[in-house]
Amino acid sequence: MSFSDQVRAYQDRIETVLAGWLPESATDPTTLHEAMRYAVLGGGKRIRPILVYAAGNAFSIPETGLDAPACAVEMIHAYSLIHDDLPAMDNDDLRRGKPTCHRAFDEATAILAGDALQALAFEVLATDPALTVNAPTRVRMINILAAASGSRGMAGGQAIDLAAVGHNLSVAQLETMHVHKTGALIRASVQLGALCHTGLADTEFECLTQYAHCIGLAFQIKDDILDVEVDTETLGKPQGSDMAQNKPTYPKLLGLDGAKQAAQRMRDAALDALHGFGPAADGLRWIADYIVTRGK
Ligand code: IPE
Ligand code: IPE
Ligand code: MG
Ligand code: MG
Ligand code: MG
Repeated sequence: MSFSDQVRAYQDRIETVLAGWLPESATDPTTLHEAMRYAVLGGGKRIRPILVYAAGNAFSIPETGLDAPACAVEMIHAYSLIHDDLPAMDNDDLRRGKPTCHRAFDEATAILAGDALQALAFEVLATDPALTVNAPTRVRMINILAAASGSRGMAGGQAIDLAAVGHNLSVAQLETMHVHKTGALIRASVQLGALCHTGLADTEFECLTQYAHCIGLAFQIKDDILDVEVDTETLGKPQGSDMAQNKPTYPKLLGLDGAKQAAQRMRDAALDALHGFGPAADGLRWIADYIVTRGK
């Protein structure tokens, strides 16, 4: 199977897994459950679950054992997008080609859908019987996801992002922002997939963390570039949102060419971090390329 076919298979798989964990729309409180399903299902590239599967695959872990972390990282991500789009944050009306959650429902429902998805992510990780790691490893996985989501991870990065609006950041400050708001969850995705391998060596964990750090940064640099270069219909979210809100971005600081070079450098560094891994890690290598070449 080619990697692009493999990616499509992972996308189909995670859709089914997510749909299975999300409460049915008919379950009370129905509007909240509808909003959760609306925000999670039927869209998105699913890059974080794909990273969980690809990292696990590097150690021949069966996919059933990777479904829980794959599902958990995508739930955290979907929650972060719902809140990111709110009027108090980026105030965007379009997400994944449809009205944002607070537009399709209302702000209170969107806030609660995000809250509930965050909680459900940890429920999945704590309880899925198909996750066969031992109890201390499961706790470590919960700890990694919690730290990646919180004020020293994604939420902290979002706070830096909002505080930076209209200010001139240095490249180092911008990198810190990206490493938190986007990088933290991408790092956690790779780490959780790898931790499903019982015999994981510390050095393997460190190399994969370095790989994930680099692709996480490349991912947000590319997101900033796409905001400038790609039309709204292709993106499924409003083009030019960053510029309209005077957000600090890589293209703004380094120009488009400088931003593209920075993304390429991060991709190269990601591949270097995998030098000790054999062909089983080719999926991870493919993803590093995909992140900087993707069109949306
Ligand atoms: C968008 O993430 C927000 C960022 C962290 C850059 P994605 O580009 O992964 O969004 P979806 O999940 O594919 O919609
Ligand atoms: C969002 O970054 C990062 C998180 C949701 C944590 P952006 O604000 O750049 O994401 P988009 O461009 O709206 O998807
Ligand atoms: Mg934002
Ligand atoms: Mg945004
Ligand atoms: Mg963006």
